Amino acid sequence: MSAVTPSTLQHLALEVSDTDTSIEFYRQFLGMKVTERHKAGEVAGIPVDLTFMRLGRRHHDLVIMHNPNKTYKPRPKNPIDDTEGFPAFHHYAYECPDRENFLGVLGHAKDMGLEIVRGPVVHSPWDPRGDGSWGENESFYVLDPDNHRIEIFCNLAEVDDDGTFINAAGERIEGSKAEEI
Ligand SMILES: [Fe+2]
Repeated sequence: MSAVTPSTLQHLALEVSDTDTSIEFYRQFLGMKVTERHKAGEVAGIPVDLTFMRLGRRHHDLVIMHNPNKTYKPRPKNPIDDTEGFPAFHHYAYECPDRENFLGVLGHAKDMGLEIVRGPVVHSPWDPRGDGSWGENESFYVLDPDNHRIEIFCNLAEVDDDGTFINAAGERIEGSKAEEI
């Protein structure tokens, strides 16, 4: 194992069929702002349109990529249903600072008329509210205009030094154990 590790998984570059539609969706749903928008060919070796969007002060949290020479086909609503082809990405996630914020984003999604394709659900085999899945976080899922699956979540477990999970209330979940410590 490397002695030097990165600290954070950060931005994602998503390929979209229509840049304007996607920008408007991410503006309306998550309040993201466009930092920079560039056309294919502006920089040698980059034959795609790129739009950088941000949540806060960092230059980008999401990159929207569009290939003007590509004929796009619709993505399946759930890549789990697709049994042939190249490995797809399944979903990506935005973290809310607390449950109140999470419920606020959920309310906003409903106000926008977005289909909640899963949840809200507590991913836990330990919490009495849990559905038996993993992470201790509470989540809901929606689709963007190209059926990219977006998870909104709060309260993800931490892993203590001995591998025991710690929930959002700061309680160690005795009996839980990370496979690698
Ligand atoms: Fe997830």
